[in-house]
Amino acid sequence: MALLEISQIRKTYATGEVALRGVDISLNGEEVVAVLGLSGSGKSTLLRCINRLVEPDSGTVMLDGVNITKLNKSALRKARRNMGMIFQEFNLVERLTVLENVLSGTLGSSGTLRSIFRAFKPEDVKRGMALCARVGIIDHIRKRADQLSGGQRQRVGIARALMQRPKILLVDEPTSSLDPKIGAEVMDLMSSISKEDGIPMLISVHDVQLAKKYSDRIVGLQNGLKIFDDRTATVDSESLDRIYDMAS
Ligand SMILES: Nc1ncnc2c1ncn2[C@@H]1O[C@H](COP(=O)(O)OP(=O)(O)OP(=O)(O)O)[C@@H](O)[C@H]1O
Ligand SMILES: [Mg+2]
Repeated sequence: MALLEISQIRKTYATGEVALRGVDISLNGEEVVAVLGLSGSGKSTLLRCINRLVEPDSGTVMLDGVNITKLNKSALRKARRNMGMIFQEFNLVERLTVLENVLSGTLGSSGTLRSIFRAFKPEDVKRGMALCARVGIIDHIRKRADQLSGGQRQRVGIARALMQRPKILLVDEPTSSLDPKIGAEVMDLMSSISKEDGIPMLISVHDVQLAKKYSDRIVGLQNGLKIFDDRTATVDSESLDRIYDMAS
């Protein structure tokens, strides 16, 4: 069985907006799968349905044999540790330091009280610092998150996700708030971490070139439906063009 198995996920928001119309994706260990689609095609909704930040209306998500869609609140909290999420808007806690933001990746395991008193375990602090060094922000660990540049902020987001020791990384347009050069550095960093640590990534992008450069497989999403699912090396330009037909 695949590490991640998404079947027939549907989501209509309370506004009546239909975001997903029955999407299937399966992802095996150690691969990078890009979800490619225009704005509004449902990419963020899909990624958020996997860890139930958005509750899907129907369908199932299996991660490493666990049916995520069936879990109660406390079991879900535990299961979410296995899914490291990296966001377009970084989602850092602005008034906390870099290191505190990274360490908040252990929240699931150390409980809320511990985090309120910021009494992180010494071994977690050590690991958090090592991760800060790895993603290139060790010189900034005592700065508040709101004092960082966009690229530095996303590096904090990456370190925070890794802090959880995730089985998979769910990455939602990680570079669209960054200029192209910094975006490329962030993509290179995530890509090398994914390969070195053998952590698969599901990453949403709206840029074909990014999808082609960094993924092993591309899933095309259009208007809440999967319209192709091909190895990146063999995906044909017609499929890619179809995604953008909607725009014209
Ligand atoms: N919280 C919400 N309430 C109502 N409708 C929503 C909500 N979030 C998203 N939608 C709608 O669902 C559809 C899919 O949105 P989604 O954000 O998943 O797309 P996306 O592919 O991530 O777009 P983008 O590239 O702009 O981030 C859109 O029509 C959007 O307007
Ligand atoms: Mg989005």
